[in-house]
Amino acid sequence: MSTQLITSIESMQSISRQWRQAGLRIAFVPTMGNLHAGHLRLVEQAKKNADRLVVSIFVNPLQFGPNEDLDLYPRTLDADMAKLKVLAVDVVFAPDESKFYKKEKNMTTFVEVPGLSDTLCGASRPRHFRGVTTVVNKLFNIVQPDVAVFGTKDYQQFAIIQQMVSDLAMPIILQGVDTVREKDGLAMSSRNAYLSEVQRALAPRLYINLQIMRERVIFGELNYESLIRQTREQLSDEGFKVDYLEIRDATNLSREATKSDKWVILTAVWLGETRLIDNILL
Ligand code: PAF
Repeated sequence: MSTQLITSIESMQSISRQWRQAGLRIAFVPTMGNLHAGHLRLVEQAKKNADRLVVSIFVNPLQFGPNEDLDLYPRTLDADMAKLKVLAVDVVFAPDESKFYKKEKNMTTFVEVPGLSDTLCGASRPRHFRGVTTVVNKLFNIVQPDVAVFGTKDYQQFAIIQQMVSDLAMPIILQGVDTVREKDGLAMSSRNAYLSEVQRALAPRLYINLQIMRERVIFGELNYESLIRQTREQLSDEGFKVDYLEIRDATNLSREATKSDKWVILTAVWLGETRLIDNILL
């Protein structure tokens, strides 16, 4: 079967309904397009779980702040389609913005996960996660997937979506896939394209600093506060502007340990006008 491009909500819903009636299992990868190897890894993972595979491409205005890069965000539908054809994706759902949110300005229904959405990235990007959970919820209603796959580079996003699916009893299995990195360690991201040559050369130092932090913990560093302070200073000296650098419980992102006693280091930094995020499990 060839890859079908669908732009209307009704057509997507009708195809999903037919598949479900035929007892077929649907896997779904939501994206904002401009696909790189990280996205393709999600698609490969999704393929393992299902009879039918849907990838959405939609640059969601609700998750961008007023001064963020919505207009600049790369839109590369033809190139994305070509990549997804190679992976034998069944349907690419790429709705028109004007049809997807008929009256975005008058929208009154939002899906929110307070608490988890207000910290870390949510603290510097108010309403960002409300935009994410609202669009993901809407996409789930349209695609009706059995399984949905997300990258864990957006660690907080994945935690929030897990909370939403659990709280609202959505009958969907979520899978997180590890971050795919460039050879020099930089986490793949569409926003890496914004970096100048000099910034691009510096960017891998972010992950190197996270790895150094992890090693210090492995070798017995117990004072997380001072470890964070020193790494923040190091990153600023190297030319990053640190938005946040924190060590949180890996299961619920709280500052206190839960029973699982698994920790994650999470960070967001600015390199010039470009905001990069990354994380590493301890
Ligand atoms: O991670 C992303 O690319 C976006 O936040 C998502 C999940 C596709 C929602 O727009």
